Amino acid sequence: MDKKKIIAIVGATGAQGGSLAHAILNDNNSEFTVRALTRDVNSDKAKNLAKLGAEVVMANVDDIESLKPAFEGVYGAFCVTFFWEHFSPEKEKQHAKNMAEAAKYADVKHVIWSSLDDTRKWVPLDDDRMPTLMGNYKVPHFDAKGESNSYFTDLGLPVTILNTCFYWENMIYFGMGPKKGPDGKLLFTLPMGEAKLPSISAEDIGKCAYGIFKQGSKYINRTVGIAGEHLTGTQFANSLSRALGKEVVYNAVEPEVYRGFNFPGAEDLGNMFQFNRDFAEDYCATRDLNVSRSLNPSLQDFDSWLVKNKELIPLD
Ligand SMILES: NC(=O)c1ccc[n+]([C@@H]2O[C@H](COP(=O)([O-])OP(=O)(O)OC[C@H]3O[C@@H](n4cnc5c(N)ncnc54)[C@H](OP(=O)(O)O)[C@@H]3O)[C@@H](O)[C@H]2O)c1
Repeated sequence: MDKKKIIAIVGATGAQGGSLAHAILNDNNSEFTVRALTRDVNSDKAKNLAKLGAEVVMANVDDIESLKPAFEGVYGAFCVTFFWEHFSPEKEKQHAKNMAEAAKYADVKHVIWSSLDDTRKWVPLDDDRMPTLMGNYKVPHFDAKGESNSYFTDLGLPVTILNTCFYWENMIYFGMGPKKGPDGKLLFTLPMGEAKLPSISAEDIGKCAYGIFKQGSKYINRTVGIAGEHLTGTQFANSLSRALGKEVVYNAVEPEVYRGFNFPGAEDLGNMFQFNRDFAEDYCATRDLNVSRSLNPSLQDFDSWLVKNKELIPLD
């Protein structure tokens, strides 16, 4: 029997990398095996991956010398950065550069780089319809990823740029679900007007990435965008109302109001949603549902995700 091909997975204990790791490990007939990268091989999540059959190795995206041996001998690498751990686009770019250079050093045959759009191509820094943030960005956690695409392409790596989108899990872990308004009614707040927002379960991002690896060379040197559904705020609220059995009202605030909310990253996300709203046609077109389904035949829509997850959404 042929030896299985190894996929090195950055962030294997997290949402995106974890979903890819589980997609491979749950497939008994997979042609791939998992090398899970983590900073702590003794964490419960790392130990659980080992129990499921993954090789677990220590690596830190801060340190290229730890990434080189972690990528050595692998067929594929799934690369992702962790903006919300440090809120620094400069760090994010350095981490992407480290991964690209380590992948080049190790002669990785197929890299998937989990990216997002550089919004400055649509809204240049001197365009004052939204504020410039951190001196050089409109949507720092998008722009730094989009700018980092060139670290992978300039090295001539065999790369698939995977453009992801808003996770439904943000409603569980990031406080973005419905919240009680002053009159006790549940409000789902987004500054999206009536534009459609591509969104997805984080679980399906890994499954789509697995689909890309399974297709061999088809997606090498290509960009592919994915989503589980394109929904308006009203459609989100209607689905939430049906699933929760309680009325949820779409609260369409303006982006400047959202930017003023009192949580870390509110300005970045306010600009992000404004970009999503103002360029919805382009943003949706690059996240084709049929392509996503072809990569991941079990792709969930929001209603089916809610059936499994509605109890986990905090409503206070
Ligand atoms: N939330 C959204 O809607 C959304 C949508 C699209 C894209 N994104 C992007 O997704 C990215 C985050 O991915 P995720 O959601 O999969 O992350 P996550 O669930 O927060 O997972 C992060 C994992 O990365 C590992 N990690 C953190 N710092 C590391 C480092 N320095 N070196 C190596 N590993 C490190 C941690 O593992 P160990 O502790 O085991 O090392 C952790 O389990 C962000 O850049 C965000 O912008 C988010």
